[in-house]
Amino acid sequence: MSNSKALQKPTFFFLILFLFFFISTSTSSDDDSAHHKTFSRNLSPRKFALRREKLSHLHFYFHDIRGGDKPTAIKVAEAKTSNASRTGFGFVTVIDDPLTVGSERSSKQVGRAQGIYASASQLDLSLLMVLNYVFTEGKFNGSTLSILGRNAIFRDVREMPIVGGSGVFRFARGYAQARTHKLDFKTGDAVVEYNVYVLHF
Ligand SMILES: *[C@@H]1O[C@H](CO)[C@@H](O)[C@H](O)[C@H]1NC(C)=O
Ligand SMILES: *[C@@H]1O[C@H](CO)[C@@H](O)[C@H](O)[C@H]1NC(C)=O
Repeated sequence: MSNSKALQKPTFFFLILFLFFFISTSTSSDDDSAHHKTFSRNLSPRKFALRREKLSHLHFYFHDIRGGDKPTAIKVAEAKTSNASRTGFGFVTVIDDPLTVGSERSSKQVGRAQGIYASASQLDLSLLMVLNYVFTEGKFNGSTLSILGRNAIFRDVREMPIVGGSGVFRFARGYAQARTHKLDFKTGDAVVEYNVYVLHF
């Protein structure tokens, strides 16, 4: 009598375990096949952990290094007429510019600005900026913000929209304000101060 009781307990336990495993795997495979066969569905933003939108302010310096043996900004294209244009209209530069906390190049690096700028105005020197800030510091490490805007570089303050982001900056929107901190007319090297205001979850 006491023997059969001792046998029953573990059998019951394994039956429960088996049922649990069977049910959980079968429902998850149902879910998966539903995902694979459905083009679109509505999700609740709350269930997607999108509860409270935060406003972050980022401050850093952008180093556009065109001279020297390790340039971070390289002109890759221009039009035949670019040299004759007052604004270099038509040139295209690819950048991988360091972003630092302080204004010195040796100051702590917090990320890079990777992308393209192009002279897109024939009247004033105004750049089309298409780039990603790729952050490498603290909770922002690995996250990016995407900028698409107009940069009239001789204005005191330029404002460029943030059109999105990744990582902690998913669903990001906001704006970046640029102020030239230092400009070397000989080499074309520039240090630009950025204040970025971004809403994200
Ligand atoms: C424009 O000027 C630069 C520097 O003087 C020169 O290297 C380049 O070949 C010129 N480009 C064209 C398209 O003439
Ligand atoms: C940022 O993330 C990379 C890759 O995960 C890691 O190698 C690096 O040490 C991190 N840096 C900081 C400052 O946390």
